[in-house]
This record gives sequence, C-alpha cells and structure tokens, in this order.
Amino acid sequence: MNILVTGGAGFIGSHLVEKLLKMGHFVWSLDDMSTGRMQFLSEITENNRHSIIHGSVTDKYLLRGLIERCEVVFHLAAVLGVKNTVENPLKVIEGNIDGTRNILELAHQHHVKVVFSSTSEIYGRNTKLPFREDSERVLGAPSIHRWCYATAKAIDEHLCFAYAEKGLPVSIVRYFNAYGPRQTSSQYGGVVSRFIKAALLNQPLEIHSDGSQVRCFTFVGDSVDGTIAAMNEQANGQAFNIGSEHPITILGLAHKIRELSASSSPIVYVPYSKAYGAGYEDMPARVPDISKGRRILHYEPVVSLDEGLKISIDWYKHQLKDGRLS
Ligand SMILES: NC(=O)c1ccc[n+]([C@@H]2O[C@H](COP(=O)([O-])OP(=O)(O)OC[C@H]3O[C@@H](n4cnc5c(N)ncnc54)[C@H](O)[C@@H]3O)[C@@H](O)[C@H]2O)c1
Repeated sequence: MNILVTGGAGFIGSHLVEKLLKMGHFVWSLDDMSTGRMQFLSEITENNRHSIIHGSVTDKYLLRGLIERCEVVFHLAAVLGVKNTVENPLKVIEGNIDGTRNILELAHQHHVKVVFSSTSEIYGRNTKLPFREDSERVLGAPSIHRWCYATAKAIDEHLCFAYAEKGLPVSIVRYFNAYGPRQTSSQYGGVVSRFIKAALLNQPLEIHSDGSQVRCFTFVGDSVDGTIAAMNEQANGQAFNIGSEHPITILGLAHKIRELSASSSPIVYVPYSKAYGAGYEDMPARVPDISKGRRILHYEPVVSLDEGLKISIDWYKHQLKDGRLS
C-alpha cells in the first residue's frame, strides 16, 4: 500500500515507518523536524520505498499532493509535552488542531483511511480505573494550561468522529506512555528517557512531586503494533486504548531504571511548582482497559517493562557514547 505517516521522524513515527517498510509498504514520512530528527529516519534504511518530506501538516497544498497518492494516512504529527503545554499553550492548541483538520478534510475528499494518534490524557484526572474507551473526561479549569493538550486532542477526536459519520474511514489510537529507543528527553521530557539518561550519567533522578503517580509504560514496538492494527476496517469510527496493563509508580520506575543500569544516581524530589510553575495539576493514575482492542484489533502488548527498559538503556548508552544525545 501507499502510506503517509505524519510526524514520521518523531519517536513513535520513526518506529511505525520502520515497521511499515518491513511489511513491504511504500511510505512517505512528512515531518517539519520541530522535534523529529532526520537521523532517526536515516537510521532505518536507505529504502527506495521510502520518501522523506520536510514540511508541515499545515501546508494544505503539500498535503493534498500526498494524500491523493495514498490509501492510508497515519497522523502522528503533534505538539506535545507537559513543558510545552504549560509554557506554550497557543503552540499546543494550534499545532494539534489545524493540521488534523486539514488531514481529515482532504482524506474525506479522497476517501483515504486515517489512523489518528490520540492520548490517555483524554481521560484527564478521572480516578475510576481502568479507563475504558467510553470513560468520562474529567478536566480542570480551562484557565489551567495543563489541560490544553488533552482538550486539543479531544477536539481532534470529535472531528474524527464527525467525519466518520460522513463516511470517512477513520480510527483513533489512544497511547498510554510509550517509551523506548529514539525518545529524547530534551524534546518534551518523557520520564523514562529522562531517568535513563540521568542514571547512565550518574546524575540525580528527579521525581516530580512524591513519585506516587501511577502509569502504564508501553514499549514503543507494542504501541506501533496497535497502531497498525487500527488500519483494520472493523476499527472505523472507533477509539482504542493502546498500552500496557501493568501499572508502576514513578518512584518504582526510578528504582527499576537505577538497578537495571547499575547506576549510583541519587533519587531527588522536586515539587510540581518548581518543575512546571504554580498551579500545576497532574493525574494520579492512568491504567487502560484494553479489552476492546484485544477483541477488535487482536491487540496484545508483549514486551515486559524490564525487557523494554533493557533495550532502551542499551540504545541510550550507544547514543551517549557516540555523543548523539544532548
Ligand atoms: N509518546 C507518548 O507516550 C504519547 C502518548 C500519547 C500520545 N502520543 C501521540 O503520539 C504522536 C507521536 O508522539 P511522539 O511521542 O512520537 O512525539 P514526537 O514529538 O517525537 O513526534 C511528533 C512529530 O511530529 C512532528 N511535527 C510536529 N508538528 C508538525 C507539523 N506541523 N507538521 C509536520 N510534522 C510535525 C515533530 O517534528 C515530531 O517528529 C503524537 O500525536 C502524540 O500526541 C504520544
């Protein structure tokens, strides 16, 4: 198939492109390189079924030319990261809504399947666990920028559902904390990459707040498999949780990474107010119910946290050795 991956030079996008090429597809990777890295794509292969396009999903003319030639679009391009959300809400809101509107409108015109990348943040600070796809969104006040990313992604999801009713084949994947090689902490502060890098450099592992927050970390290969499965026709018009079902606290994660990387880094606690400014809010826990994905997509995450962390630690070690991580 001819496939467009937006955000193809990013963390999850580059792994998705790699897998699609292995499956024998023709892939266009569109990325504005704001956080993506050309290096991630050139690492993959010099493959004559792969074209890299440096451009933006806000460029409708460029998008039209690409979408016309494709059967499927995986739309991963986005502006994310808690730091961005707090410090640059306009960039987050516009960066997540404008491009998605373009993609959906053009895909609808050309009847091209879309798989849209959403997030577990959609559920906000809902405390009823695990989250099912029809669980409620519980968010703080709009004056708190923290919620603008979740809100922008929710508008994107509303757009997807509205276009689905108009006949667009579109499905939504909601990622739960993906981690793995090519996630770089300098971009937007993924906690796994931040901890691994600090542990390998024997620097302090900084825990925001008390470390009791619970997350389900998902190895990127498992996130990619769920994404590809969402191409399935039966997934049209629906959202799916894509993530591991095994919760761990942030403090537990810090200890695990320290142990697996044989590090002597101290663990230090930094209040939210110092990390992200006054009034910051977070969700205490995020755990997915993935039974819908199991049933419809035959989705099953297979990489354990220990296994995935070991692969990631090895990758970061090589990057640090080669001076590739800032
Ligand atoms: N990593 C996670 O745990 C996670 C969790 C939930 C949702 N997601 C979603 O998954 C997708 C991929 O995230 P990621 O973790 O790989 O982040 P990433 O920052 O590595 O990837 C996003 C990519 O989009 C590109 N991009 C940004 N704006 C663009 C534009 N206007 N035009 C073209 N390209 C643009 C960036 O350069 C980058 O390569 C995003 O939609 C994100 O919201 C990720």
